Amino acid sequence: MRTLVTGAAGFIGSNLVDRLLTEGHHVVGVDNLSTGRASNLDSAAESNRFTFVETDVSLPDLQAVVAGTRPDVVFHLAAQVDVRRSVTDPYHDAATNVLGTINIAEACRKAGTRRIVFAASGGSRYGEPITLPVREEVPACPLSPYAAGKVAAELYLGCYAGMYGLAPVNLALSNVYGPRQDPHGEAGVVAIFGSAMLAGRPAVIYGDGCATRDYVYVGDVVDAFARAATAPTSVTGTFNIGTGIQTSTADLHRLMSEVVGSTEPPRLEGGRTGEIRAIALDRSAARAALQWDPRTSIREGLQLTVEWLRRTTDDVVPAGTAVTVSEGSSR
Ligand SMILES: NC(=O)c1ccc[n+]([C@@H]2O[C@H](COP(=O)([O-])OP(=O)(O)OC[C@H]3O[C@@H](n4cnc5c(N)ncnc54)[C@H](O)[C@@H]3O)[C@@H](O)[C@H]2O)c1
Repeated sequence: MRTLVTGAAGFIGSNLVDRLLTEGHHVVGVDNLSTGRASNLDSAAESNRFTFVETDVSLPDLQAVVAGTRPDVVFHLAAQVDVRRSVTDPYHDAATNVLGTINIAEACRKAGTRRIVFAASGGSRYGEPITLPVREEVPACPLSPYAAGKVAAELYLGCYAGMYGLAPVNLALSNVYGPRQDPHGEAGVVAIFGSAMLAGRPAVIYGDGCATRDYVYVGDVVDAFARAATAPTSVTGTFNIGTGIQTSTADLHRLMSEVVGSTEPPRLEGGRTGEIRAIALDRSAARAALQWDPRTSIREGLQLTVEWLRRTTDDVVPAGTAVTVSEGSSR
């Protein structure tokens, strides 16, 4: 398959690139390197089936890249991913997450690419759902510009399906964790916990530690992207990608401590406003349409993440860096 991955240098995008190359596909990776790292693509760069293009998904250049590639599938993961930044600068958020997605949809229409697999946000699209795990039928209830932009992108892709016969699959991801997640980011609670513990510092939990999230391992998420790419074009729309299991921040801290071998207790600080208490996603639709199920238990996933952190981390988190419970939530 000829594939194009936007956000290729990011956490999930680079794991997807590696998986596609392992399967023998050709991959054009697109990224503006705003939060992604070129080093995430070091192993990909060794393949003669991989090409990297540094550009912005909202620029006209992108159209030429897609036209030149004529991909069978476009995986659209590039995004402004910082929920707090979306609040302070909603224009920038929409420029990347909404206009960038329209640019991709237009490019695909012109290039004749029907399948777009889009990284939607299961953690933020439903707001604070009453019943958990939440199903896709529950009306979207975005509570931040980031969440609104992600839902808007899904709606635009739906329009392009209706108008031009594109076959988008929106994967509404829960809280993804695993190797290459940035411990400096605002949402990677697993990476932040792990790197703080490995450096012998207490991790900070905002709130009482009872807030829950649905943590899904990046290898399983990448598997969902791969399955969506090859599903029949009759399969379109939005599919939750999560485990359905709620893990509290306190439990995550305990599990991570066991994996790292840390005895340092967490430091509890006041909770933050506007953050949801609980989320978990019902994955029945993805199981039926994509034959997708997560295979990695949280303990196993944490072990794989800690192994990676041990290999790559050199005292990555400055002392006192707060662990954000809920920002992860809202992505
Ligand atoms: N990590 C999660 O838990 C999670 C949950 C739900 C949805 N998502 C979505 O998955 C996708 C990947 O997220 P991630 O966690 O890997 O984040 P990430 O920041 O590691 O990856 C995003 C990538 O997009 C690139 N990018 C940003 N703006 C761009 C632009 N204008 N043009 C080109 N490239 C641009 C960044 O440089 C980065 O490499 C995003 O769309 C995100 O919204 C992530």
